[in-house]
Amino acid sequence: MARKVTHEKRGPARLDESDMGDDGMIYVCQCGLSGSKPLCDGSHNATADEEDGVVHEYDGDDPDGKRRAVVETVYADE
Ligand code: FES
Repeated sequence: MARKVTHEKRGPARLDESDMGDDGMIYVCQCGLSGSKPLCDGSHNATADEEDGVVHEYDGDDPDGKRRAVVETVYADE
């Protein structure tokens, strides 16, 4: 499983105590779908049924909404 994610930010995010959950932990999004980046907001649940060997792309900010398989990805340095 893999997914295509587009990022627009150009710098780091500073985290502090206010970012901690009730359990005292800070959860950083690794799936790329969170609407509260860099924090996890549970959107990763939408990736549970992604197929191995297929690149998925999620439309808009709603990962539970439209999802499609990316047929081909072309990189500038190829
Ligand atoms: S890991 Fe991305 S929303 Fe949880």
